[in-house]
Amino acid sequence: MSTNDWRTHNESGSKRVVVTKELPGDRWLEILTAADCRVEIGTSTEILSVEEISDKIGDQCDGVIGQLTEKWGEELFTALKNAGGKAYSNYAVGYNNVDVGVATKYGIPVGNTPGVLTDTTAEMAVSLTFSSARRVVEADAFMRAEKYHGWLPTLYLGELMKGKTVGVIGAGRIGCAYAKMMVEGFKMNVVYFDPYPNEYMENYIAAYGEFLKSQGDEPITCRRLDSVEDVLRVADVVSLHPLLDDTTFHLMNTERLSLMKDNAILINASRGPVIDEVALVEHCKTHPDFKVGLDVFEDEPLMKPGLKELPNVVIVPHIASATIWTRSGMATLAASNVAGVLNGYSAWQDPDDVLPFLGDNPPQAAPSIVNASEVGLSAYA
Ligand code: DGY
Repeated sequence: MSTNDWRTHNESGSKRVVVTKELPGDRWLEILTAADCRVEIGTSTEILSVEEISDKIGDQCDGVIGQLTEKWGEELFTALKNAGGKAYSNYAVGYNNVDVGVATKYGIPVGNTPGVLTDTTAEMAVSLTFSSARRVVEADAFMRAEKYHGWLPTLYLGELMKGKTVGVIGAGRIGCAYAKMMVEGFKMNVVYFDPYPNEYMENYIAAYGEFLKSQGDEPITCRRLDSVEDVLRVADVVSLHPLLDDTTFHLMNTERLSLMKDNAILINASRGPVIDEVALVEHCKTHPDFKVGLDVFEDEPLMKPGLKELPNVVIVPHIASATIWTRSGMATLAASNVAGVLNGYSAWQDPDDVLPFLGDNPPQAAPSIVNASEVGLSAYA
């Protein structure tokens, strides 16, 4: 990356913060400026290597906002520590690209950006579900190719979702939001697997089921099943929302794919390596009625051979959180994490309630520091 690929905001700031990519909105820059930071922003759209980021950190750097495409491990946290760095924030809610243990070893707080992308990401999972179920992308290509010669009873037959069963793997914030959308919008029954029961979701759906009953409609149900396999066997749609770690790497492999219904739909807006993509390509080839919607890929930005040729797969480039409101909100949270630590504030640590940070009088805290207690950041009182 050449020096031309960086721009500086607030030249005279006394603290130096490196932000490896341009971020949407202005609020994040105002927050860092108010914290007396000189902000150096990478303008290249190419993914930066560890060496490039390390060079940019240089001899003196107080904080960094980095991307999920960067490997924040021993090398970069050593560079940041040696440069006097005190704060790092990922510009993402997921932080599987960050070795939090290494950051903690060097006493560096690690921030993320929860809360503002829950519904946005769930909405993309819903979009992928229906694009797949109703073959929207295939039909769009057909129209553009001017192949439409008149209405036919059999043209692009898809799957009706109403009243069917949706399976959610990982019922955290996003999985729960997706389940609620599918229930309220399409009256689907929910089965889920998560190591921890989501009582809020179960009670919410039970109450909604009672409401439907009171209206003379079929009630809907929400059941936590004992295993991923149990969900795969019964669900018409399965949406994946687990964290990526050693236990969820290739969670969807040949064996588990084979448990799904032949005409089921599989959605992934979590992390690519949760699916064995080679196995998925093979499964889609041999099961033409099986449908898939993917926002994420195992070797992002690359796709496994054969994936893009499959008509039964809808693919988008990791844009589940890509709305202006959400991406600006993520920038605000990432900047507030770094500025909050540099200002000496406490950690907010209520990732379900970070919206006050988007308002005019944000709390004097760092909104989401995942290793706050480990690095000795006190909790906001
Ligand atoms: C995240 O935040 O983890 C998403 O994958 C990108 O918004």
